[in-house]
Amino acid sequence: MSESPFKVLNVVGARPNFMKVAPLHAALQAHGRFNSMIVHTGQHYDEKMSDVFFRQLEMPHPDVYLGIGSGSHAEQTGKVMIGFEEIVLKEKPDLVIVVGDVNSTMACSIVAAKCHIPLAHVEAGLRSWDRRMPEEINRIVTDSLADYLLVTEQSGIDNLVAEGISEDKIFFTGNVMIDSLVKFREKAAKTTILQDLRLTPRSFVLMTMHRPSNVDGESGLHSIVQIIQFLSSIQEVVFPIHPRTRKQLKAFGLLEQLENLPNLKLLDPLGYLEFLSLMENASLLITDSGGIQEETTFLQVPCLTLRENTERPVTVEIGTNELMPMEAENVNRRASEILSGKNVKGSVPPLWDGHASERIAEELAIQLKRRQAI
Ligand code: UD1
Repeated sequence: MSESPFKVLNVVGARPNFMKVAPLHAALQAHGRFNSMIVHTGQHYDEKMSDVFFRQLEMPHPDVYLGIGSGSHAEQTGKVMIGFEEIVLKEKPDLVIVVGDVNSTMACSIVAAKCHIPLAHVEAGLRSWDRRMPEEINRIVTDSLADYLLVTEQSGIDNLVAEGISEDKIFFTGNVMIDSLVKFREKAAKTTILQDLRLTPRSFVLMTMHRPSNVDGESGLHSIVQIIQFLSSIQEVVFPIHPRTRKQLKAFGLLEQLENLPNLKLLDPLGYLEFLSLMENASLLITDSGGIQEETTFLQVPCLTLRENTERPVTVEIGTNELMPMEAENVNRRASEILSGKNVKGSVPPLWDGHASERIAEELAIQLKRRQAI
């Protein structure tokens, strides 16, 4: 008699979730023991923040779209919980999988736990130790509720164990975001983004900035402008702007200053493949993103992360990532050193090899079977 498949709900909500769930969903479907569904909360909803990723990452349309949209933290979290609870009660899944640390991750974790559905957290155990970051709260809540904690780096294991989480719930399986990078690297190289923007490899700085701590106040925004003004006097600067950042620059009257800079390419958010191609060819990344710290470490491209802490210490310890507070003078000094060749040479962390999703599918099949047998 063939065993019936485990029904899995994979949650996606915001941009950094898509490149993690695409390989996971594919690996679960290929494994043979799962019936994998995708639930999109709609936390991100624009063509450029959501739809383009489904197409480029070859992900099927979501089975369920909750259409939650933007709002305050409580509003967004509450709406996701209400919408997701209905789906869980209707679908009665054997497992809910959440990835990363966005509001949708935490909201769906609480629902799964309260409905007594086993919960897996992919990218568990990361800690910035900075509770002013909304993501840190999301990570702590999600990890405390998860039954299976799938970890990307050693610090994740150490943090979870220190928090009293039983070691038999923790699995070091690697980095699913790197699975997407490995799979789509060649395709990214075939995009025409470099030609379209008239860029030559290793002759431009790529910048992203969207954390509330950097872009919601005037001083952070002024520093960003100063950094761009300085760097664009040395190399071309490419800056795809997150909607939050665009809104803030406009509100403080700074967008115009940037629009007038000759060596700056100010763009709308880019697709996955175009951005990957730019990362691979940049001479330096300047960012406050979580994922880009990992992607540049894998690509061995220099990265300055304008934050005081990182929940991904392996990228600093063995990767190409360096942390710097948002102080224009210091950032400009270090950036020009890097551009003159004084950069850190990194190596790729263990199990960032393109096969993390397959290891996760196999481990979850073992765990669910074991649970069934009890
Ligand atoms: C969210 C995540 C953050 C992640 C980031 C990646 C949380 C707490 N934060 O932050 O961890 O790094 O996504 O982008 O979950 N907006 C649009 N179109 C969209 C989505 C948002 O214009 O499709 C605008 C809206 O004005 C919205 C603002 O962006 O108010 C912020 O969106 P939100 O989902 O609240 O947080 P992010 O800053 O994107």
